[in-house]
Amino acid sequence: MVFITNAKINNKMKNAIVFGASSGIGRQLATYLVEDGYKIVITGRRQDLLEELKSEHPESFIVKAFDVQDLKETGFLFNTIVTELKEVHLIIHASGIGLVNEVLEWKKELETINTNVLGATRIYNLAFNLFKAQGFGHLVSISSIASLRGNRFAPSYFASKAYQVNYLESLYFKSKEIKGGKVHVTDIRPGFVDTRMALGDGIFWMASLEKASRQIYKAIKRKRRRVYITKRWNLIAWVLKIVPSWLMKKLT
Ligand SMILES: NC(=O)c1ccc[n+]([C@@H]2O[C@H](COP(=O)([O-])OP(=O)(O)OC[C@H]3O[C@@H](n4cnc5c(N)ncnc54)[C@H](OP(=O)(O)O)[C@@H]3O)[C@@H](O)[C@H]2O)c1
Repeated sequence: MVFITNAKINNKMKNAIVFGASSGIGRQLATYLVEDGYKIVITGRRQDLLEELKSEHPESFIVKAFDVQDLKETGFLFNTIVTELKEVHLIIHASGIGLVNEVLEWKKELETINTNVLGATRIYNLAFNLFKAQGFGHLVSISSIASLRGNRFAPSYFASKAYQVNYLESLYFKSKEIKGGKVHVTDIRPGFVDTRMALGDGIFWMASLEKASRQIYKAIKRKRRRVYITKRWNLIAWVLKIVPSWLMKKLT
């Protein structure tokens, strides 16, 4: 059966980069992009998992394995990818870590900051400057509902997510400097999604990877500015925004 996809109907192959496609949300989104006819560069550190994904659709995926904590390498490989693809329509930033760190072990704090703050900023910068030069493009980042408040079990994770959402909003404001209105920024804020990051049993309102990723993909296609995933987390977001710190301290 011949599969006629949206991108192919437009008679033009679209290109995407998914940072953090070796597992979880990024991997799932990469498979949806194949269905829509994209050529996709998939990244992450675990090359074996990226190669495994590529083997499912060798014609659609290009593997680039690297560590986003290496900022120089990230910049170098990004430029190599852009040279190969010529133009990039969509960049999804799903690379991130979430470490429980009750005792404030410095190594964990540093790893979180290097990945979720420095690595993320490098990718946001590279993506935005590319889109500015192209005059079009869509940057999507998976932040978190964790961006809304502090947390005593994982301070750097929650702080890194607040950093991400504010940086993304800044880029959204900044996009007005680019004529044509064709540069978009989407901030995806999931609650709990069933990936290796959300470890443990009986986690509150845990969404399946499939359900969460479908909702995320829909939001990407609609070029939403920001969205909570799954929808019911809108309610938690509303509560989190109004609860005073003294009460949060008592309850959490
Ligand atoms: N699952 C949840 O409940 C949840 C909730 C809210 C937000 N999020 C956010 O969603 C994003 C995706 O997480 P996930 O749940 O899908 O978990 P995941 O399966 O652990 O995916 C994380 C991805 O990031 C990549 N990554 C991590 N550190 C990296 C590094 N230093 N260099 C390159 N790639 C790196 C991983 O690849 P390698 O390990 O191969 O490098 C993997 O592909 C994260 O930003 C997370 O904070 C998740």
